[in-house]
Amino acid sequence: MAKPEASAKADKQAADFARGLEGVVAAESRICRVDGETPRLSYSGYDILDLVEHATFEEVIYLLWFDELPNRTQLQEFIAKLAAERHLPTGLVYTMRTLPHTTPPMDALRSCVSLLSVYDPEDSHDCSVEANWRRCIRLMSKLPSVVATFDRLRHGHEPVEPNPQLGLAANFLYQLTGQIPNDLSAQAMDVGLTLHADHELNASTFAARVTVGTLSDLYSGITSAVGCLKGPLHGGANQEVIKMLHEVGMLERVESYILEKLARKEKIMGFGHRVYKQCDPRAPILRTWSRRMGEAAGDLLWFQMSKRIEEVVLREKGLFPNVDFYSASVYHTLNIPHDQYTPIFACSRVAGWLAHIMEQLSDNRLIRPVAQWVGHEYRDFKPIDQR
Ligand SMILES: CC(C)(COP(=O)(O)OP(=O)(O)OC[C@H]1O[C@@H](n2cnc3c(N)ncnc32)[C@H](O)[C@@H]1OP(=O)(O)O)[C@@H](O)C(=O)NCCC(=O)NCCS
Repeated sequence: MAKPEASAKADKQAADFARGLEGVVAAESRICRVDGETPRLSYSGYDILDLVEHATFEEVIYLLWFDELPNRTQLQEFIAKLAAERHLPTGLVYTMRTLPHTTPPMDALRSCVSLLSVYDPEDSHDCSVEANWRRCIRLMSKLPSVVATFDRLRHGHEPVEPNPQLGLAANFLYQLTGQIPNDLSAQAMDVGLTLHADHELNASTFAARVTVGTLSDLYSGITSAVGCLKGPLHGGANQEVIKMLHEVGMLERVESYILEKLARKEKIMGFGHRVYKQCDPRAPILRTWSRRMGEAAGDLLWFQMSKRIEEVVLREKGLFPNVDFYSASVYHTLNIPHDQYTPIFACSRVAGWLAHIMEQLSDNRLIRPVAQWVGHEYRDFKPIDQR
């Protein structure tokens, strides 16, 4: 006998159910290709290895947004537009001064991104593509300024005005420290930003797409994404890595520390990936930079401990490092406060979030999956004195 239609539909949903949406194709995208098997990562068809070697972060943003690498004129214009939007609204800086110094930087960033919307000079009802691209430039440029400015304020220093002569990476370090970084540091920052710029439908990007899929605004989309990135299973992992390196403290302790952690069934942060079953292609690039920065600083301990952890975790669990693992020691040698690692991730990933938001809006359909019902059968309402 044929099943009733509703029951057949429920059976199909049960068969399709994927915990954590693993393996579910939820969008068509031309922005970032993650090949977990090879493994290989590319933006708009360009391999990440080539981009890190030959392109700046600004070229990468342009590529993610417009699907082509810019020519010289296009790049100069783009850089000028970005540099012109680095200033923060006075009202926002005033509010930032009132935040408790103990505010976690990701909480400050999430709140400030949301507040940026009230200072957006566009008519909030103007959702045209042109107005949204202008908002993209603003968000892209202002996020690093927010991160740097909050860091200065919470440490009792005055904010540093942006320097339009510097690229995005170098200017960020300048606004953070008040010192113009040397070329190697600026390049390390640029590489870090390039490698984190996009990663297909990761959790925060999906959150951004879901948010604007309701035709909410870009600021809401980026606020959702920042909140999502904060979690230790996503962007928060890099901060956990540096915490772990501090706990380990010396090369000789790596083996026992990791074995004890695994025996307690704890996860080793910066390892494993939903998509890459082999090594995350970004990790070896950052490994090289971790060594390079350690050599330049005359302190290879952080690189060496990381390398030893990698060997032990691979041997014990067959797990490879992901992008968060070596970015921690790179940022450490750049003297970046540890709780700023995830906000910096956001300053990079906002390029990808915005690319995905614009892609979502160009062919929008509300994102609304369904749940498989595992609760009570229908039942009669019980008055309060009978419960
Ligand atoms: C990234 C991550 C969330 C992917 O998760 P996932 O695809 O849902 O995989 P699971 O968490 O279900 O892990 C599968 C198995 O590998 C183990 N595993 C995965 N990552 C591990 C890690 N970092 N340390 C130890 N064991 C790990 C799990 O314990 C699980 O083992 P089990 O089957 O015996 O229970 C996960 O690897 C993780 O939590 N990593 C640490 C956090 C991190 O670095 N996040 C940044 C990602 S870029």
